[in-house]
Amino acid sequence: MTAGGRALVDQLLADPPGVHAMSVAQDAEVGVWATERDCYLLLAEFVGNGARTLETGSGISTVLFAALGAMHTCITPAQVEADRIEKYCEAHEIPTVLVTFKIGCSDEILPGLSRAAPYDVVLIDGNHGFPTPTLDWYYGASLLGPDGLLVIDDVSLPAVAHLCSFVDRDPRFASHTRTAKWAAYRRVGDGDLRQDWYDQPFYGPPLTITDLPGRALRKVRRTLTAQGARR
Ligand SMILES: C[S@@+](CC[C@H](N)C(=O)[O-])C[C@H]1O[C@@H](n2cnc3c(N)ncnc32)[C@H](O)[C@@H]1O
Repeated sequence: MTAGGRALVDQLLADPPGVHAMSVAQDAEVGVWATERDCYLLLAEFVGNGARTLETGSGISTVLFAALGAMHTCITPAQVEADRIEKYCEAHEIPTVLVTFKIGCSDEILPGLSRAAPYDVVLIDGNHGFPTPTLDWYYGASLLGPDGLLVIDDVSLPAVAHLCSFVDRDPRFASHTRTAKWAAYRRVGDGDLRQDWYDQPFYGPPLTITDLPGRALRKVRRTLTAQGARR
């Protein structure tokens, strides 16, 4: 992490763009839904001039990608968010020539994105309802090149937690950072993420509270059997 990257993140957090309507009221206050400073610092560490980056949702992250000189694609259904970001960048002399806004819902836009060149960084932080984060991962993370960085925000929300519980076990992704708010992974290999169930031996049924005593008992039995075999 360069001092420049840290200063840029702190500058953005001290004077953030107003991007999002903060409630559903007609005259809602305009603010910004943000993630943690450390998440932006990680992005600043990975994104150099000309890096190919993609995000679902818009906000501080979009301005950060622009300021870092990324060739950035931002998907948001709200034209007004793109307009506010453009205006903020203009006022702060942040070039946006390399930023492309795709206005629409990620589940409709992502499948149509070109696969001609891989992305270096994909940030998933758009619609957080089931199954959208998973669709964003399925289409978005399939565009990452080898070792590319996948960042997923709001991991405590149910649909995102389900997605992460899969990605955590998926050998095509290596965990990089995990906090209570966001997670980052490195892509192992590349290419589309389509698999049939028999390609996913690591994937079991969701663990429920009633499974816990049975699982604990089986673990104790396995340990005792292994100890007995060693004697
Ligand atoms: C939590 S905010 C993103 C915050 C941003 N990453 C940041 O760091 O400031 C969620 C964003 O998702 C966008 N969004 C909502 N539904 C979406 C969808 N179906 N596809 C893409 N973006 C969506 C919202 O308009 C909003 O910009």
